Amino acid sequence: MTNQFLLLESTAAETRVLESRIRALHQYHTPLHILEAGCGQKWTLSLDGIDYSLTGIDLDEAALSLRKQKYDDLDNAIVGDLTTASFSDNSFHVIYNAYVLEHVHDAHAVLENFTRWLKPGGLMILKIPDRYSVYGFLARYTPHWSHVCYYRYVKGIKTAGLPGHAPYPVTYDPLLSCAGLEQYCQQHGLRICQGYRKDNYLRKKTIRTWLVRMAAQCLSLAALGYLQWRHNDLILVLQKPE
Ligand SMILES: C[S@@+](CC[C@H](N)C(=O)[O-])C[C@H]1O[C@@H](n2cnc3c(N)ncnc32)[C@H](O)[C@@H]1O
Repeated sequence: MTNQFLLLESTAAETRVLESRIRALHQYHTPLHILEAGCGQKWTLSLDGIDYSLTGIDLDEAALSLRKQKYDDLDNAIVGDLTTASFSDNSFHVIYNAYVLEHVHDAHAVLENFTRWLKPGGLMILKIPDRYSVYGFLARYTPHWSHVCYYRYVKGIKTAGLPGHAPYPVTYDPLLSCAGLEQYCQQHGLRICQGYRKDNYLRKKTIRTWLVRMAAQCLSLAALGYLQWRHNDLILVLQKPE
């Protein structure tokens, strides 16, 4: 399967793919019960025209308040920890989890919860940075304050690191790689509908992008190809058997 991860060219392409997966499920189940696990302050999908309820859970109360103020799109908003939260088994048709597992100490426990909370036939959508990409490697081996500085002074996000705002400290559980997640799926009877790789930082045609690409290629070369430079994110669409 690892070689069959498709490379997504843009965030728009990613959004299209994920929305169409959810819309396809809606043909058979309505209303759809969706859990946005680690919802933070924003949801990037648009599911206009379909009947669904959205439950958001997040550890960070400030992020949830911002979410309510800015979008007010959650039917249920819960302050809670994904490792200990207690939803009933088979509660959700879709569990959407974007850029959260790399912040969790026990990603295995969270995935076990998701597997139980998902209804048979339901979809689990996971988005994580690949720990074996150049980006993932740098994020793992540099201190949190440097991530805050990068967001503030390179990306220009003044609120970076304040309550409710990224970046959050990372842990990168070893499970978070193509191979680790494939093994988890095999052991838990989850079907991998499709895996995708995405490159978030090398798409624009600017001098900065070109420099970053060169640096990423050099690091990948120095690591004898062990670290990937063509992508930084992994996206998996998994299905629990009926
Ligand atoms: C990088 S943000 C991503 C937010 C959102 N999913 C997005 O894509 O914009 C990570 C989020 O995961 C949340 N988080 C981290 N560990 C968590 C845990 N154990 N339980 C619940 N939420 C958690 C953080 O509070 C934060 O809102």
